[in-house]
Amino acid sequence: MQGAIESWRMSPIAEDAPPRGADGLERAGWLADALGLVLGGQSDQPLTTRLYHALREWIQMGRLGSGQRLPSSRQLAGELGLGRNTVLAAFDQLLAEGFLVTRHGSGTFVADLPFQHETTADTASSPSAVDGDMYLSARGTALLAYCPTQQGRHPAFVPGVPALDRFPRAQWQRLMRRHLQHMPMDWLAYQVQGGVPALREALADYLQLSRSVRCRPEQILIVQGAQQGFELIVRLLSDSGDEVWLEEPGYHGAQACFAAAELDMQPVPVDGEGMHVDALNDPGHPRLIYVTPSHQYPSGVTMSLARRLALLEAAERHGAWIVEDDYDSEFRYGQRPVAALQGLVEGARVIYVGTFSKVMYPGLRLGYLVLPEPLVEPFRRANARLYREGQYAVQAALAEFIARGHFSRHVRRMRDCYRSRQTLLREALAPAVARGLRLSEGQAGMHLVAWLDDAEHERNLVDRAAGEGISLSPLSSYYLIAPGRPGLVLGYAGTVEAEIERAGQWLARAWLKLTDNT
Ligand SMILES: Cc1ncc(COP(=O)(O)O)c(C=O)c1O
Repeated sequence: MQGAIESWRMSPIAEDAPPRGADGLERAGWLADALGLVLGGQSDQPLTTRLYHALREWIQMGRLGSGQRLPSSRQLAGELGLGRNTVLAAFDQLLAEGFLVTRHGSGTFVADLPFQHETTADTASSPSAVDGDMYLSARGTALLAYCPTQQGRHPAFVPGVPALDRFPRAQWQRLMRRHLQHMPMDWLAYQVQGGVPALREALADYLQLSRSVRCRPEQILIVQGAQQGFELIVRLLSDSGDEVWLEEPGYHGAQACFAAAELDMQPVPVDGEGMHVDALNDPGHPRLIYVTPSHQYPSGVTMSLARRLALLEAAERHGAWIVEDDYDSEFRYGQRPVAALQGLVEGARVIYVGTFSKVMYPGLRLGYLVLPEPLVEPFRRANARLYREGQYAVQAALAEFIARGHFSRHVRRMRDCYRSRQTLLREALAPAVARGLRLSEGQAGMHLVAWLDDAEHERNLVDRAAGEGISLSPLSSYYLIAPGRPGLVLGYAGTVEAEIERAGQWLARAWLKLTDNT
Protein backbone atom coordinates (compact mmCIF):
# COMPACT_ATOMS: atom_id res chain seq x y z
CA MET A 1 0.00 0.00 0.00
CA GLN A 2 2.91 2.25 0.68
CA GLY A 3 3.66 1.79 -3.03
CA ALA A 4 0.29 3.22 -3.93
CA ILE A 5 0.97 6.25 -1.81
CA GLU A 6 4.38 6.69 -3.38
CA SER A 7 2.99 6.32 -6.89
CA TRP A 8 0.39 8.94 -6.11
CA ARG A 9 3.08 11.26 -4.78
CA MET A 10 5.00 10.84 -8.02
CA SER A 11 1.91 11.13 -10.15
CA PRO A 12 1.79 14.15 -12.45
CA ILE A 13 -1.95 14.43 -11.79
CA ALA A 14 -1.28 15.02 -8.14
CA GLU A 15 1.64 17.38 -8.60
CA ASP A 16 -0.03 19.29 -11.40
CA ALA A 17 -3.50 19.32 -9.89
CA PRO A 18 -4.90 22.82 -10.19
CA PRO A 19 -5.22 24.72 -6.95
CA ARG A 20 -8.67 24.08 -5.58
CA GLY A 21 -10.41 27.30 -4.82
CA ALA A 22 -14.11 27.82 -4.42
CA ASP A 23 -14.74 24.68 -6.47
CA GLY A 24 -12.79 22.55 -3.98
CA LEU A 25 -14.53 24.12 -1.02
CA GLU A 26 -17.91 23.61 -2.56
CA ARG A 27 -17.16 19.98 -3.27
CA ALA A 28 -16.05 19.57 0.32
CA GLY A 29 -19.40 20.96 1.45
CA TRP A 30 -21.30 18.53 -0.80
CA LEU A 31 -19.24 15.64 0.50
CA ALA A 32 -20.04 16.60 4.08
CA ASP A 33 -23.75 16.80 3.17
CA ALA A 34 -23.66 13.37 1.54
CA LEU A 35 -21.82 11.83 4.49
CA GLY A 36 -24.32 13.45 6.81
CA LEU A 37 -27.11 11.58 5.01
CA VAL A 38 -25.29 8.25 5.30
CA LEU A 39 -24.45 8.69 8.95
CA GLY A 40 -27.94 9.94 9.74
CA GLY A 41 -29.41 6.47 9.03
CA GLN A 42 -29.94 3.75 11.65
CA SER A 43 -26.98 1.43 12.31
CA ASP A 44 -25.38 -0.50 15.17
CA GLN A 45 -21.88 0.14 13.84
CA PRO A 46 -19.60 2.73 15.42
CA LEU A 47 -19.48 6.08 13.58
CA THR A 48 -15.80 5.68 12.68
CA THR A 49 -16.54 2.37 10.94
CA ARG A 50 -19.49 3.83 9.03
CA LEU A 51 -17.51 6.84 7.95
CA TYR A 52 -14.64 4.63 6.83
CA HIS A 53 -16.96 2.32 4.82
CA ALA A 54 -18.79 5.18 3.17
CA LEU A 55 -15.59 6.88 2.03
CA ARG A 56 -13.97 3.64 0.90
CA GLU A 57 -17.03 2.64 -1.13
CA TRP A 58 -17.23 6.03 -2.82
CA ILE A 59 -13.53 5.91 -3.72
CA GLN A 60 -13.93 2.40 -5.17
CA MET A 61 -16.98 3.46 -7.14
CA GLY A 62 -15.19 6.49 -8.52
CA ARG A 63 -17.63 8.89 -6.92
CA LEU A 64 -14.58 10.35 -5.20
CA GLY A 65 -12.07 10.63 -8.01
CA SER A 66 -8.29 10.38 -7.89
CA GLY A 67 -6.67 13.55 -6.63
CA GLN A 68 -9.86 14.92 -5.10
CA ARG A 69 -9.20 16.78 -1.88
CA LEU A 70 -11.19 15.84 1.17
CA PRO A 71 -12.30 18.40 3.71
CA SER A 72 -9.96 18.61 6.70
CA SER A 73 -10.78 16.34 9.62
CA ARG A 74 -11.59 19.44 11.65
CA GLN A 75 -13.98 20.81 9.02
CA LEU A 76 -15.67 17.46 8.45
CA ALA A 77 -16.05 16.83 12.18
CA GLY A 78 -17.59 20.29 12.55
CA GLU A 79 -20.03 19.86 9.67
CA LEU A 80 -21.06 16.35 10.70
CA GLY A 81 -21.28 17.16 14.40
CA LEU A 82 -18.75 14.42 15.26
CA GLY A 83 -15.71 14.36 17.51
CA ARG A 84 -12.57 15.11 15.50
CA ASN A 85 -10.98 11.83 16.69
CA THR A 86 -13.82 9.89 15.09
CA VAL A 87 -13.00 11.42 11.70
CA LEU A 88 -9.24 11.11 12.23
CA ALA A 89 -9.59 7.40 13.01
CA ALA A 90 -11.51 6.79 9.74
CA PHE A 91 -8.98 8.87 7.76
CA ASP A 92 -6.05 7.03 9.37
CA GLN A 93 -7.41 3.67 8.34
CA LEU A 94 -7.99 4.84 4.75
CA LEU A 95 -4.49 6.35 4.70
CA ALA A 96 -3.00 3.14 5.99
CA GLU A 97 -4.81 1.13 3.33
CA GLY A 98 -3.72 3.51 0.59
CA PHE A 99 -7.14 4.89 -0.34
CA LEU A 100 -6.09 8.35 0.84
CA VAL A 101 -2.81 10.21 0.85
CA THR A 102 -1.68 13.36 2.56
CA ARG A 103 0.45 16.14 1.22
CA HIS A 104 2.19 18.28 3.73
CA GLY A 105 0.43 21.60 4.06
CA SER A 106 -2.13 20.78 1.36
CA GLY A 107 -4.48 18.33 3.00
CA THR A 108 -5.84 14.84 2.42
CA PHE A 109 -6.51 13.53 -1.09
CA VAL A 110 -7.97 10.48 -2.79
CA ALA A 111 -5.06 8.36 -3.99
CA ASP A 112 -4.44 7.62 -7.65
CA LEU A 113 -5.48 4.00 -7.51
CA PRO A 114 -5.01 1.51 -10.31
CA PHE A 115 -7.96 -0.80 -9.61
CA GLN A 116 -11.12 -1.09 -11.64
CA HIS A 117 -14.18 0.36 -9.97
CA GLU A 118 -15.99 -2.41 -8.18
CA THR A 119 -19.65 -2.85 -8.97
CA THR A 120 -21.58 -2.26 -5.82
CA ALA A 121 -25.24 -2.66 -5.05
CA ASP A 122 -25.53 1.06 -5.55
CA THR A 123 -24.25 1.14 -9.13
CA ALA A 124 -26.07 -2.07 -10.02
CA SER A 125 -29.38 -0.52 -9.17
CA SER A 126 -28.80 2.86 -10.76
CA PRO A 127 -30.85 3.39 -13.93
CA SER A 128 -27.75 3.74 -16.10
CA ALA A 129 -26.64 0.26 -15.07
CA VAL A 130 -29.73 -1.47 -16.41
CA ASP A 131 -30.74 -2.47 -19.84
CA GLY A 132 -33.80 -1.07 -21.50
CA ASP A 133 -36.79 0.24 -19.63
CA MET A 134 -36.91 -2.05 -16.60
CA TYR A 135 -37.62 0.79 -14.22
CA LEU A 136 -40.23 2.56 -16.26
CA SER A 137 -43.96 2.38 -15.71
CA ALA A 138 -46.19 1.10 -18.50
CA ARG A 139 -47.07 4.73 -19.23
CA GLY A 140 -43.40 5.72 -19.24
CA THR A 141 -42.55 2.88 -21.58
CA ALA A 142 -45.32 3.89 -23.97
CA LEU A 143 -44.13 7.49 -23.84
CA LEU A 144 -40.55 6.54 -24.63
CA ALA A 145 -41.67 5.07 -27.94
CA TYR A 146 -42.35 8.68 -29.00
CA CYS A 147 -39.04 10.02 -27.72
CA PRO A 148 -36.21 9.19 -30.11
CA THR A 149 -32.66 9.73 -28.95
CA GLN A 150 -31.78 13.26 -29.97
CA GLN A 151 -28.30 14.49 -30.64
CA GLY A 152 -28.65 18.10 -29.56
CA ARG A 153 -26.97 19.09 -32.83
CA HIS A 154 -28.89 20.56 -35.71
CA PRO A 155 -27.35 19.56 -39.03
CA ALA A 156 -29.14 20.25 -42.32
CA PHE A 157 -32.19 19.60 -42.60
CA VAL A 158 -33.52 19.20 -39.07
CA PRO A 159 -37.06 20.63 -39.11
CA GLY A 160 -38.44 23.13 -36.63
CA VAL A 161 -35.22 25.03 -35.90
CA PRO A 162 -35.23 28.76 -36.68
CA ALA A 163 -32.27 30.76 -38.04
CA LEU A 164 -30.36 31.03 -34.79
CA ASP A 165 -27.47 32.66 -36.69
CA ARG A 166 -29.76 35.59 -37.55
CA PHE A 167 -31.22 36.20 -34.11
CA PRO A 168 -30.44 39.75 -32.84
CA ARG A 169 -28.58 38.51 -29.81
CA ALA A 170 -26.92 41.76 -28.76
CA GLN A 171 -30.21 43.66 -28.75
CA TRP A 172 -31.99 40.87 -26.88
CA GLN A 173 -29.21 40.50 -24.35
CA ARG A 174 -29.24 44.24 -23.62
CA LEU A 175 -32.96 44.08 -22.89
CA MET A 176 -32.65 40.97 -20.75
CA ARG A 177 -29.76 42.44 -18.77
CA ARG A 178 -31.74 45.58 -18.03
CA HIS A 179 -34.84 43.70 -16.96
CA LEU A 180 -32.84 41.30 -14.81
CA GLN A 181 -31.11 44.24 -13.12
CA HIS A 182 -34.29 46.14 -12.39
CA MET A 183 -36.78 43.43 -11.67
CA PRO A 184 -38.89 43.95 -8.57
CA MET A 185 -37.93 41.90 -5.55
CA ASP A 186 -41.33 40.28 -5.69
CA TRP A 187 -40.39 38.46 -8.90
CA LEU A 188 -37.87 36.42 -6.97
CA ALA A 189 -40.77 34.73 -5.21
CA TYR A 190 -43.38 32.24 -6.50
CA GLN A 191 -45.63 33.78 -9.13
CA VAL A 192 -49.30 33.04 -9.74
CA GLN A 193 -50.49 35.75 -12.12
CA GLY A 194 -50.35 33.67 -15.29
CA GLY A 195 -47.46 35.68 -16.72
CA VAL A 196 -46.16 39.24 -16.73
CA PRO A 197 -49.15 41.53 -17.50
CA ALA A 198 -47.15 43.62 -20.00
CA LEU A 199 -46.40 40.49 -22.04
CA ARG A 200 -50.01 39.33 -21.99
CA GLU A 201 -51.13 42.78 -23.10
CA ALA A 202 -48.59 42.91 -25.92
CA LEU A 203 -49.61 39.42 -27.00
CA ALA A 204 -53.34 40.14 -26.93
CA ASP A 205 -52.70 43.13 -29.17
CA TYR A 206 -50.52 41.15 -31.55
CA LEU A 207 -52.86 38.15 -31.73
CA GLN A 208 -55.98 40.24 -32.38
CA LEU A 209 -54.31 42.25 -35.11
CA SER A 210 -52.20 39.69 -36.88
CA ARG A 211 -54.06 36.41 -36.22
CA SER A 212 -57.67 37.58 -35.71
CA VAL A 213 -57.72 35.79 -32.38
CA ARG A 214 -60.51 36.92 -30.06
CA CYS A 215 -58.92 37.58 -26.71
CA ARG A 216 -58.36 39.86 -23.78
CA PRO A 217 -54.99 39.84 -21.96
CA GLU A 218 -56.65 38.07 -19.01
CA GLN A 219 -57.37 35.05 -21.21
CA ILE A 220 -53.69 34.51 -21.93
CA LEU A 221 -51.66 32.11 -19.81
CA ILE A 222 -47.89 32.19 -20.32
CA VAL A 223 -46.37 28.69 -20.28
CA GLN A 224 -42.93 27.25 -20.92
CA GLY A 225 -43.51 26.47 -24.58
CA ALA A 226 -46.34 24.89 -26.55
CA GLN A 227 -45.44 21.44 -25.27
CA GLN A 228 -46.16 22.43 -21.70
CA GLY A 229 -49.39 24.00 -22.90
CA PHE A 230 -50.44 20.64 -24.38
CA GLU A 231 -49.56 18.93 -21.11
CA LEU A 232 -51.73 21.29 -19.13
CA ILE A 233 -54.66 20.92 -21.54
CA VAL A 234 -54.46 17.14 -21.40
CA ARG A 235 -54.26 17.07 -17.63
CA LEU A 236 -57.18 19.40 -17.10
CA LEU A 237 -59.54 18.41 -19.88
CA SER A 238 -59.13 14.67 -20.40
CA ASP A 239 -58.95 11.44 -18.45
CA SER A 240 -56.92 8.39 -19.31
CA GLY A 241 -58.70 6.37 -21.99
CA ASP A 242 -60.49 9.42 -23.43
CA GLU A 243 -60.44 9.80 -27.17
CA VAL A 244 -58.30 12.43 -28.86
CA TRP A 245 -58.45 13.12 -32.59
CA LEU A 246 -55.21 14.15 -34.14
CA GLU A 247 -53.89 14.75 -37.61
CA GLU A 248 -52.38 11.86 -39.56
CA PRO A 249 -49.52 12.55 -40.29
CA GLY A 250 -48.91 14.75 -37.29
CA TYR A 251 -46.60 16.38 -34.79
CA HIS A 252 -44.49 14.02 -32.66
CA GLY A 253 -44.61 16.36 -29.64
CA ALA A 254 -48.41 16.23 -29.49
CA GLN A 255 -48.44 12.46 -30.07
CA ALA A 256 -45.99 11.99 -27.17
CA CYS A 257 -48.09 14.13 -24.87
CA PHE A 258 -51.29 12.19 -25.64
CA ALA A 259 -49.51 8.84 -25.31
CA ALA A 260 -48.11 9.86 -21.93
CA ALA A 261 -51.62 10.74 -20.77
CA GLU A 262 -52.90 7.33 -21.92
CA LEU A 263 -55.41 8.86 -24.29
CA ASP A 264 -57.02 6.81 -27.03
CA MET A 265 -55.43 8.34 -30.12
CA GLN A 266 -57.67 8.44 -33.17
CA PRO A 267 -55.63 9.49 -36.22
CA VAL A 268 -57.68 11.59 -38.66
CA PRO A 269 -56.52 11.61 -42.30
CA VAL A 270 -55.15 14.85 -43.75
CA ASP A 271 -55.71 15.67 -47.41
CA GLY A 272 -55.26 18.79 -49.52
CA GLU A 273 -57.81 20.67 -47.36
CA GLY A 274 -56.39 19.63 -44.00
CA MET A 275 -57.81 17.35 -41.32
CA HIS A 276 -60.81 15.47 -42.70
CA VAL A 277 -63.06 14.40 -39.83
CA ASP A 278 -65.79 13.08 -42.14
CA ALA A 279 -63.30 10.51 -43.46
CA LEU A 280 -63.32 8.71 -40.10
CA ASN A 281 -64.94 5.28 -40.33
CA ASP A 282 -65.79 4.95 -36.70
CA PRO A 283 -65.70 8.51 -35.32
CA GLY A 284 -66.33 7.86 -31.60
CA HIS A 285 -66.54 10.75 -29.14
CA PRO A 286 -63.42 12.87 -28.80
CA ARG A 287 -62.65 14.91 -25.71
CA LEU A 288 -59.83 16.71 -27.50
CA ILE A 289 -59.08 17.48 -31.14
CA TYR A 290 -55.51 18.53 -31.92
CA VAL A 291 -55.02 20.43 -35.16
CA THR A 292 -52.54 22.73 -36.96
CA PRO A 293 -54.99 24.50 -39.32
CA SER A 294 -52.81 27.40 -40.50
CA HIS A 295 -49.97 25.17 -41.66
CA GLN A 296 -50.51 21.49 -41.12
CA TYR A 297 -47.50 19.81 -39.59
CA PRO A 298 -45.75 18.28 -41.43
CA SER A 299 -47.64 18.29 -44.78
CA GLY A 300 -47.84 22.11 -44.98
CA VAL A 301 -51.52 22.15 -46.02
CA THR A 302 -53.73 25.08 -44.98
CA MET A 303 -57.14 23.99 -43.74
CA SER A 304 -60.00 25.14 -45.95
CA LEU A 305 -62.85 27.22 -44.58
CA ALA A 306 -65.33 24.39 -45.14
CA ARG A 307 -63.16 22.02 -43.07
CA ARG A 308 -62.72 24.64 -40.35
CA LEU A 309 -66.46 25.07 -40.01
CA ALA A 310 -66.98 21.29 -40.04
CA LEU A 311 -64.38 20.92 -37.29
CA LEU A 312 -65.96 23.60 -35.11
CA GLU A 313 -69.32 21.94 -35.59
CA ALA A 314 -67.92 18.49 -34.69
CA ALA A 315 -66.32 19.88 -31.52
CA GLU A 316 -69.61 21.48 -30.53
CA ARG A 317 -71.54 18.26 -31.19
CA HIS A 318 -69.15 16.12 -29.12
CA GLY A 319 -68.52 18.66 -26.38
CA ALA A 320 -64.82 18.36 -27.31
CA TRP A 321 -62.08 21.00 -27.08
CA ILE A 322 -60.11 21.89 -30.17
CA VAL A 323 -56.41 22.45 -29.50
CA GLU A 324 -55.29 24.86 -32.23
CA ASP A 325 -51.51 24.71 -32.51
CA ASP A 326 -50.47 27.85 -34.41
CA TYR A 327 -46.74 27.22 -34.27
CA ASP A 328 -45.29 29.00 -37.32
CA SER A 329 -48.02 31.00 -39.04
CA GLU A 330 -45.86 34.16 -39.03
CA PHE A 331 -43.87 32.77 -41.93
CA ARG A 332 -46.01 33.07 -45.06
CA TYR A 333 -44.51 33.78 -48.46
CA GLY A 334 -46.73 35.42 -51.04
CA GLN A 335 -50.00 34.24 -49.54
CA ARG A 336 -51.98 36.39 -47.14
CA PRO A 337 -51.93 35.06 -43.57
CA VAL A 338 -54.88 32.85 -42.73
CA ALA A 339 -56.92 33.92 -39.70
CA ALA A 340 -56.85 31.64 -36.69
CA LEU A 341 -59.60 29.05 -36.25
CA GLN A 342 -60.13 30.39 -32.74
CA GLY A 343 -61.46 33.72 -34.01
CA LEU A 344 -63.77 32.34 -36.66
CA VAL A 345 -66.83 31.95 -34.47
CA GLU A 346 -67.71 33.69 -31.21
CA GLY A 347 -67.50 31.33 -28.25
CA ALA A 348 -65.88 28.47 -30.24
CA ARG A 349 -64.62 25.51 -28.24
CA VAL A 350 -61.00 26.28 -29.13
CA ILE A 351 -57.85 26.66 -27.05
CA TYR A 352 -55.30 28.56 -29.07
CA VAL A 353 -51.67 27.51 -28.46
CA GLY A 354 -48.79 29.77 -29.48
CA THR A 355 -45.04 29.48 -29.08
CA PHE A 356 -42.00 31.75 -29.22
CA SER A 357 -39.81 28.80 -30.23
CA LYS A 358 -39.96 29.65 -33.92
CA VAL A 359 -40.22 33.44 -33.90
CA MET A 360 -37.55 33.83 -31.21
CA TYR A 361 -35.64 30.63 -30.36
CA PRO A 362 -36.58 27.24 -28.83
CA GLY A 363 -34.26 27.55 -25.82
CA LEU A 364 -36.32 30.50 -24.61
CA ARG A 365 -39.06 28.07 -23.51
CA LEU A 366 -41.92 30.51 -23.66
CA GLY A 367 -45.33 29.92 -25.18
CA TYR A 368 -48.92 30.77 -24.33
CA LEU A 369 -52.48 29.57 -24.27
CA VAL A 370 -55.50 31.68 -25.15
CA LEU A 371 -58.24 30.21 -23.01
CA PRO A 372 -62.02 30.51 -23.14
CA GLU A 373 -63.15 32.54 -20.10
CA PRO A 374 -64.39 29.61 -17.98
CA LEU A 375 -61.04 27.83 -18.28
CA VAL A 376 -58.83 30.78 -17.33
CA GLU A 377 -58.93 30.40 -13.56
CA PRO A 378 -58.56 26.58 -13.38
CA PHE A 379 -55.69 26.63 -15.88
CA ARG A 380 -53.86 29.42 -14.08
CA ARG A 381 -54.16 27.63 -10.75
CA ALA A 382 -53.14 24.24 -12.09
CA ASN A 383 -50.19 25.73 -13.97
CA ALA A 384 -48.95 27.53 -10.87
CA ARG A 385 -49.25 24.31 -8.86
CA LEU A 386 -47.93 21.74 -11.35
CA TYR A 387 -45.25 23.58 -13.28
CA ARG A 388 -44.72 26.82 -11.33
CA GLU A 389 -44.45 30.13 -13.07
CA GLY A 390 -41.17 31.89 -13.59
CA GLN A 391 -38.85 33.80 -15.88
CA TYR A 392 -40.73 37.02 -15.18
CA ALA A 393 -37.71 39.20 -16.02
CA VAL A 394 -37.34 37.38 -19.35
CA GLN A 395 -41.07 37.79 -19.99
CA ALA A 396 -40.77 41.51 -19.27
CA ALA A 397 -37.83 41.77 -21.68
CA LEU A 398 -39.92 39.99 -24.32
CA ALA A 399 -42.84 42.37 -23.74
CA GLU A 400 -40.50 45.28 -24.41
CA PHE A 401 -38.98 43.50 -27.41
CA ILE A 402 -42.50 43.30 -28.85
CA ALA A 403 -43.60 46.80 -27.79
CA ARG A 404 -40.50 48.44 -29.32
CA GLY A 405 -41.15 46.77 -32.66
CA HIS A 406 -38.03 44.55 -32.53
CA PHE A 407 -40.23 41.47 -32.67
CA SER A 408 -42.12 42.37 -35.84
CA ARG A 409 -38.87 43.56 -37.46
CA HIS A 410 -37.23 40.25 -36.62
CA VAL A 411 -40.21 38.31 -37.97
CA ARG A 412 -40.11 40.32 -41.23
CA ARG A 413 -36.38 39.70 -41.59
CA MET A 414 -36.82 36.01 -40.90
CA ARG A 415 -39.61 35.82 -43.45
CA ASP A 416 -37.18 37.14 -46.08
CA CYS A 417 -34.41 34.90 -44.84
CA TYR A 418 -36.57 31.76 -44.92
CA ARG A 419 -37.98 32.62 -48.30
CA SER A 420 -34.47 32.90 -49.73
CA ARG A 421 -33.25 29.77 -47.91
CA GLN A 422 -36.19 27.87 -49.37
CA THR A 423 -35.34 29.19 -52.85
CA LEU A 424 -31.75 28.06 -52.37
CA LEU A 425 -32.91 24.59 -51.39
CA ARG A 426 -35.20 24.39 -54.42
CA GLU A 427 -32.30 25.44 -56.66
CA ALA A 428 -30.04 22.81 -55.15
CA LEU A 429 -32.74 20.17 -55.64
CA ALA A 430 -33.66 21.32 -59.15
CA PRO A 431 -31.85 18.43 -60.94
CA ALA A 432 -33.77 15.96 -58.76
CA VAL A 433 -37.07 17.75 -59.33
CA ALA A 434 -36.38 17.57 -63.07
CA ARG A 435 -36.13 13.79 -62.52
CA GLY A 436 -39.42 13.38 -60.71
CA LEU A 437 -38.77 14.40 -57.08
CA ARG A 438 -41.96 16.17 -55.94
CA LEU A 439 -41.69 19.00 -53.43
CA SER A 440 -44.49 20.58 -51.39
CA GLU A 441 -45.64 24.08 -52.33
CA GLY A 442 -43.78 25.77 -49.50
CA GLN A 443 -46.09 28.78 -49.31
CA ALA A 444 -45.38 29.01 -45.61
CA GLY A 445 -43.30 27.72 -42.74
CA MET A 446 -39.79 26.47 -42.23
CA HIS A 447 -39.66 23.15 -44.06
CA LEU A 448 -40.52 21.46 -47.36
CA VAL A 449 -41.76 17.96 -47.88
CA ALA A 450 -40.31 15.79 -50.65
CA TRP A 451 -43.00 13.23 -51.50
CA LEU A 452 -41.70 9.77 -52.41
CA ASP A 453 -43.55 6.77 -53.79
CA ASP A 454 -41.29 4.10 -52.44
CA ALA A 455 -40.59 3.34 -48.77
CA GLU A 456 -37.28 1.78 -49.82
CA HIS A 457 -36.21 5.13 -51.32
CA GLU A 458 -37.05 6.86 -48.06
CA ARG A 459 -34.99 4.39 -46.02
CA ASN A 460 -32.09 4.49 -48.44
CA LEU A 461 -31.86 8.29 -48.55
CA VAL A 462 -32.29 8.74 -44.79
CA ASP A 463 -29.54 6.21 -44.01
CA ARG A 464 -27.07 7.47 -46.58
CA ALA A 465 -27.63 11.11 -45.64
CA ALA A 466 -26.81 10.34 -42.01
CA GLY A 467 -23.35 9.23 -43.15
CA GLU A 468 -22.89 12.67 -44.76
CA GLY A 469 -23.90 14.58 -41.63
CA ILE A 470 -27.31 15.38 -43.12
CA SER A 471 -30.51 14.76 -41.20
CA LEU A 472 -33.47 13.71 -43.35
CA SER A 473 -36.65 13.14 -41.35
CA PRO A 474 -38.68 10.28 -42.82
CA LEU A 475 -42.24 11.41 -43.45
CA SER A 476 -43.55 7.91 -42.68
CA SER A 477 -42.43 8.34 -39.06
CA TYR A 478 -45.03 11.10 -38.58
CA TYR A 479 -47.87 8.58 -39.06
CA LEU A 480 -49.40 6.67 -36.16
CA ILE A 481 -50.72 3.95 -38.44
CA ALA A 482 -48.05 2.07 -40.40
CA PRO A 483 -47.05 2.18 -43.12
CA GLY A 484 -47.04 5.95 -43.42
CA ARG A 485 -46.62 7.68 -46.73
CA PRO A 486 -42.92 7.83 -47.62
CA GLY A 487 -41.21 11.16 -48.02
CA LEU A 488 -38.65 13.49 -46.49
CA VAL A 489 -39.25 16.47 -44.23
CA LEU A 490 -36.59 19.05 -45.07
CA GLY A 491 -36.17 21.87 -42.56
CA TYR A 492 -34.32 24.73 -44.21
CA ALA A 493 -34.87 27.69 -41.84
CA GLY A 494 -32.12 26.81 -39.37
CA THR A 495 -29.56 25.73 -41.96
CA VAL A 496 -27.02 28.29 -43.17
CA GLU A 497 -26.82 28.98 -46.90
CA ALA A 498 -23.57 27.15 -47.65
CA GLU A 499 -24.85 24.06 -45.89
CA ILE A 500 -28.18 24.20 -47.73
CA GLU A 501 -26.22 24.17 -50.98
CA ARG A 502 -23.92 21.33 -49.95
CA ALA A 503 -26.62 19.14 -48.42
CA GLY A 504 -29.18 19.99 -51.12
CA GLN A 505 -26.75 19.14 -53.92
CA TRP A 506 -25.83 15.90 -52.17
CA LEU A 507 -29.52 14.98 -51.92
CA ALA A 508 -30.09 15.80 -55.59
CA ARG A 509 -27.15 13.58 -56.60
CA ALA A 510 -28.34 10.80 -54.30
CA TRP A 511 -31.81 10.98 -55.85
CA LEU A 512 -30.41 10.84 -59.39
CA LYS A 513 -28.28 7.82 -58.50
CA LEU A 514 -31.20 6.09 -56.83
CA THR A 515 -33.57 6.64 -59.71
CA ASP A 516 -30.88 5.69 -62.25
CA ASN A 517 -30.72 2.27 -60.66
CA THR A 518 -34.44 1.66 -60.59
C1 LIG B 1 -46.19 21.48 -34.79
C2 LIG B 1 -45.41 22.12 -33.68
N1 LIG B 1 -46.05 22.64 -32.64
C3 LIG B 1 -45.39 23.26 -31.64
C4 LIG B 1 -44.02 23.35 -31.66
C5 LIG B 1 -43.28 24.16 -30.61
O1 LIG B 1 -43.16 23.56 -29.43
P1 LIG B 1 -42.48 24.29 -28.20
O2 LIG B 1 -43.14 25.62 -27.97
O3 LIG B 1 -42.74 23.35 -27.09
O4 LIG B 1 -41.02 24.47 -28.50
C6 LIG B 1 -43.30 22.76 -32.69
C7 LIG B 1 -41.84 22.77 -32.68
O5 LIG B 1 -41.15 22.08 -33.36
C8 LIG B 1 -44.02 22.16 -33.74
O6 LIG B 1 -43.37 21.63 -34.79
